[in-house]
Amino acid sequence: MTRRYVVTVDGPAGSGKSTVSRLLARELAYVYLDTGALYRAVALKVSRSGLAAGDRAGIAALCGETTVTIAGLDGVTRVLLDGADVTELLRTPEISMLASAVSAVPEVRQRLLAVQREAALTGGIVAEGRDMGTVVFPGADVKFFLTAGPEERGRRRWLELRERGHEAGLGEVIEDVVRRDHQDSEREIAPLRPAEDGIVIDSTGKTVEQVVDEMLRAIKDKENRVL
Ligand code: DC
Repeated sequence: MTRRYVVTVDGPAGSGKSTVSRLLARELAYVYLDTGALYRAVALKVSRSGLAAGDRAGIAALCGETTVTIAGLDGVTRVLLDGADVTELLRTPEISMLASAVSAVPEVRQRLLAVQREAALTGGIVAEGRDMGTVVFPGADVKFFLTAGPEERGRRRWLELRERGHEAGLGEVIEDVVRRDHQDSEREIAPLRPAEDGIVIDSTGKTVEQVVDEMLRAIKDKENRVL
């Protein structure tokens, strides 16, 4: 049987969505799309340009003359910013906060829409972000919304940062995560929220494997209903 579903995974920072989405894609032999990386690439450009995070008009104009393309979907979403691979420069605390600010600018979201949809044209994709099930792929076959308590999300993000060699205080990372979620949930355009037809999974206290199993079961259920 060849199923080529579009599966979406939305959720706040540190909910574990990157890890489970990557694993889920591997289990299904689908491609994995990390859409946060696209917003991070625009944030990197904004950072390099010296524009302030609050300069929405400046950011909109800059974005208009920026090309963001996806270079690889094999476990890691490689991103080209104006033709240069910037993938390794995107996962710093500064770029995280700036990506959140940049993502509230409508022109930026509009600009990145086509890139995301193009990646899913053939189906067989696990797309991860904030508005996958609500805005980018409203017709997705299976939609998940992953949550976890703020402490746990902060701790996960803190561990991830340490693994990458960024030393930061745990309290500070938790605060950052909460602030970013607030920003992402309260913005006017494409706010972070579960899709009406989405399956909400609270990953607090669950292992990655347990969450992935839950998702695989939901996808199987869908297949059985369709057959
Ligand atoms: O998933 P992430 O932490 O890499 O995302 C970085 C920021 O990008 C996040 O704070 C909000 C924004 N983002 C978004 O607005 N929509 C998406 N689909 C993905 C990310």
